[in-house]
Amino acid sequence: MQIESAKIALHILRSKQGRFQEFQIPIRRGMTVLDALIYAKERLDHSLGLRFSCRMATCGSCGMKINGRPMLACYTQISELKSNSIKIEPLDNCAVIRDLVTDFTEFFEHHRSIAPYIIRKDITEKEHPSKEYLQKPEDLEKYLQFSHCIKCGLCYSACPTVAADREFPGPQALAQAYRYIADSRDRGLKERMDRIDTAHGIARCHFAGTCSSVCPKGIDPAQGIQLLRRYVLSLKR
Ligand code: FES
Repeated sequence: MQIESAKIALHILRSKQGRFQEFQIPIRRGMTVLDALIYAKERLDHSLGLRFSCRMATCGSCGMKINGRPMLACYTQISELKSNSIKIEPLDNCAVIRDLVTDFTEFFEHHRSIAPYIIRKDITEKEHPSKEYLQKPEDLEKYLQFSHCIKCGLCYSACPTVAADREFPGPQALAQAYRYIADSRDRGLKERMDRIDTAHGIARCHFAGTCSSVCPKGIDPAQGIQLLRRYVLSLKR
């Protein structure tokens, strides 16, 4: 469908009213959904709640559902939506604070629970390293894509298992667990296994793959989960 008018209708779910409110936004070339939302907030209704910072798909704070799909507002051009009418809602699987602002406390607790950093047992060596711990290109290749995660929560909001089980860590945390377990410098397997290999852990994933389809960075968390599951199973043989 061609965009025929110079205006676009944003239909934004307002948390206080419990219904969609329409905003008519004049569009311009290169305009993003975030630009349109900022226009609505600055010129039409100051009470509209939204969160953003970097405007360049780096901070991960502007995630929302755009026409039913979790996306970054700053990374979505109006023109790519190919419609004069855009529906905007807060992300699923997160409590709403106000309008499009969701509470990421639970998401970050899951992220923190898998210890998303390199763990070493040799504390003295860690604090006063005697050498460089080099990674070969083939070492880096094992986890590089997962290092690009910006923690925007889109995969978490799209995950049907998270919707059914709030103790399930979710695709972001599990893919990060794989990222560190696959790192040849890391020694934190046991700590992470206690979190991953539980009744609410990695076995709960049924590979719907929605996480990978919505990642704005092209990361494949479903693949990370599969690799992690293979690794966990190999330890039990
Ligand atoms: Fe930072 Fe969109 S504003 S990712």
